[in-house]
Amino acid sequence: MSTTAPATSLAASLTPSPEDRFSFGLWTVGWAARDQFGTASRPDLDPLASVRKLKELGAWGFTFHDNDLIPFDATEAERERLIGELKRTMDDTGMVCEMVTTDTFAEPVFKDGAFTSNDRRVRRYGLRKVLRNVDLAAELGATTFVMWGGREGSEYDSSKDLLASLERYAEGIDTVAGYIKSQGYDLRIGLEPKPNEPRGDIFLPTVGHALAFIERLEHGDVVGVNPETGHEQMATLNYTHGLAQALWAEKLFHIDLNGQNGPMYDQDLVFGHGNLISAFFTVDLLENGFPSRPGAYQGARHFDYKPSRTEHLDGVWDSAAANMRMYLALKERAVAFRQDPEVQEALEQAGVLELAEPTLAEGEDLQSFLADRGAYEDLDLTGPSERNYGFVRLHQLAVEHLMGARG
Ligand code: GCO
Ligand code: MN
Ligand code: MN
Repeated sequence: MSTTAPATSLAASLTPSPEDRFSFGLWTVGWAARDQFGTASRPDLDPLASVRKLKELGAWGFTFHDNDLIPFDATEAERERLIGELKRTMDDTGMVCEMVTTDTFAEPVFKDGAFTSNDRRVRRYGLRKVLRNVDLAAELGATTFVMWGGREGSEYDSSKDLLASLERYAEGIDTVAGYIKSQGYDLRIGLEPKPNEPRGDIFLPTVGHALAFIERLEHGDVVGVNPETGHEQMATLNYTHGLAQALWAEKLFHIDLNGQNGPMYDQDLVFGHGNLISAFFTVDLLENGFPSRPGAYQGARHFDYKPSRTEHLDGVWDSAAANMRMYLALKERAVAFRQDPEVQEALEQAGVLELAEPTLAEGEDLQSFLADRGAYEDLDLTGPSERNYGFVRLHQLAVEHLMGARG
């Protein structure tokens, strides 16, 4: 039997609190639903009012692009005034600004990207915009600086020197990372991969591409990734696997949680409103850790979703609350799954725990491994070939826990 808590405490556990470390981008709830086919379906929100409202809903923190708060054409004085107001709102509410990011995609100047624009003037301008935003992030106490290069890419392969694109991208990121270090800021960069949209092809399309790119950087020690659920799924990849590889590389610096139904445009649904089974295993990893290395992810549970265009203001806040409630419900289910003795037994049969055992014995050198006839020449393949791993039974248990059909 599973050890699921009774319904009353389940309801209580679905109420978010600051300890859950939920955070939201101000551009998420603030999206007025202008899209390629239509005008806004909701009024623009005051970002400071959004910080207060998110606090009321139980969030711990918020994140923003410079231009979510400060209009692109704001004067210096206006910029200072808005930053002052944001700081006062943070003091009043206790809301944490955990991440800051830069808009290098909305304005026409960035139509061919910022760090990888063919126009050197744009590259220098984009870099300066990012660097001043790094100062702002440090001033507000943020510990993560996300860089999503949405316009870094192309529609036409004839339009780009792909080698130079990667060199300029690395030069830009290294310049920002070097600046962070030289200023002594407690800040790490999270590169956010996305395969396409708005560009036909975006550079650093997946978590794997970004991790490999970071290895080539001079200041890669302060650069990691900010994987987004829907972005990996747009590329038909497994988000949880992406998180796992980033964790293994010690590069999971931030996360963007949302929902997506397979390979199509970036849906930015509420977390869990897309591929729910995948969301369950994402939460299982974030909350329970690897079977061989238990422990919860320490960073913010950050949502990067969009309230659907059909929703008006009540729907904006209902959908924000839905992200947190969904996460907590999945957390409750994932904990029950791991605690269920039948699951533990099924994990055992499946060999899940066996995989943590090194393939070579401790101290075994190549010579003795090659001399071990039992490993190869004399191995009776019948046993391993006829082994019933029971993966389907194990998965059925997981899905039943997810559905609330067990305990
Ligand atoms: C998108 C991206 C963005 C980034 C944001 C932070 O697909 O539009 O996910 O929302 O996360 O710009 O840098
Ligand atoms: Mn997205
Ligand atoms: Mn994102």
